[in-house]
Amino acid sequence: MKWVYIEDLASARDQDVEIRGWVYNTRSSGRIRFLLVRDGTGIVQATIFSREENDPLFEKFDALTQESSVIVRGRVREDKRAPGGVEIGVSGIEIIQIAKDYPITPKEHSTPFLMEHRHLWLRSRKQHAVLQVRAEVIRAIRGFFDDRGFRLMDTPILTPSACEGTTTLFETKYFDQSAYLSQSGQLYNEATAAAFGKVYCFGPAFRAEKSKTRRHLIEFWMVEPEVAFATLEDTIALGQDLVLFILERVLKRRRADLAELERDAAPLEAIAAPFPRLTYDEVFPRLQEKGSEIKYGDDFGAPEETILSDLYAAPVCITHFPARIKAFYMQPDEQRPDLALGVDFFAPEGYGEIIGGGQRIHDPDLLAERIREHGLPPEPYQWYIDLRKYGTFPHSGFGLGVERVVAWLCGIKHIRETIPFPRLLYRIYP
Ligand code: 4AD
Ligand code: MG
Repeated sequence: MKWVYIEDLASARDQDVEIRGWVYNTRSSGRIRFLLVRDGTGIVQATIFSREENDPLFEKFDALTQESSVIVRGRVREDKRAPGGVEIGVSGIEIIQIAKDYPITPKEHSTPFLMEHRHLWLRSRKQHAVLQVRAEVIRAIRGFFDDRGFRLMDTPILTPSACEGTTTLFETKYFDQSAYLSQSGQLYNEATAAAFGKVYCFGPAFRAEKSKTRRHLIEFWMVEPEVAFATLEDTIALGQDLVLFILERVLKRRRADLAELERDAAPLEAIAAPFPRLTYDEVFPRLQEKGSEIKYGDDFGAPEETILSDLYAAPVCITHFPARIKAFYMQPDEQRPDLALGVDFFAPEGYGEIIGGGQRIHDPDLLAERIREHGLPPEPYQWYIDLRKYGTFPHSGFGLGVERVVAWLCGIKHIRETIPFPRLLYRIYP
């Protein structure tokens, strides 16, 4: 018999097939037994109908428990009421293992309990739906850049220097030296951009964030495009196109998962270009009006992110930040050198910053000065300064955090459910 995945069952109507998976649920009604089997691609109802009281198939069925592993054989039948439009008329059940006392039962469990059992929690419908959306988001991102002539560049995880400030660095031994886990691939991509024009890296980023918020992970995934000769304006346009592309893809291909998550798709469908834009100076009084205690020149904290994320129905782009709250590499505005040509995109519905980026300093002297001002050791940045000596070029790029986007699209409160195994403050198990 042919092994078929549940998602492909509809094209195997009236054939005898084999499903390999786990028992999701069982139910009996008189002479009929219903078995819900999941195989990772879906859930199908398998039905056993019997005339005899002690049918051996019934005995096997009665032994089944939640998450027992099985091979179910039978005929694929059309059934309009069934979720995929088909069900299985069972002719045989092969038990691989009877699972005893599966800890995650249909009753409600506390989040700490579920996090402790994350390796099993992944099997539940909602978690499955979130991770399907995540995979789609990642696929969309890769397709977006690959189809637009961007070259994928894998930047190192072990690095000698900081990109996003020294307070969140993860230090590790590197033989007789110390190294840091990458906070961002940006600096390396500025080098690859000079070799390839348009590039992107896509990998994990590590930040020893000591703040416990629903928007922060210690290890998260970030896609970072970098474009030689692009301005701040160009990078805003690229970010907007990317966000719209991801949205469209997920709405088209992961409808069922959004429905499983009870995510109202209407606010996502309403999003269109151009995204609203404000400068730091323009948004500052609005933050205060909405109750923020921010002082002029301060960076946004969690309360400001929440306010910004509720201002509009579409993501909002904030630009022209006070230079001193931003990273050392940001290009200053020509008229107002105290302002940095950076941009942050804030997702609506309270989801916070999904994109951070901007234009980079291309003047070698200014860059060296900023490295000094930020108290960074010059030696590890020599190669980075070199890029400004040998055919310097204005350039821009950004980083988009995958988990923030997934949380937003799925409409889930906490970012910890958007990655299979989240690394959280003081938590590294499982
Ligand atoms: O704003 P960030 O720190 O920007 C950079 O790292 C730049 N070097 C990117 C670039 O220009 N190439 O981070 C970019 C995005 C944020 O907007 C957010 O979506 C996400 O990465 N992010 C996090 N996501 C989850 N947990 C964290 N701790 C995150 N820190 C940043
Ligand atoms: Mg940022």
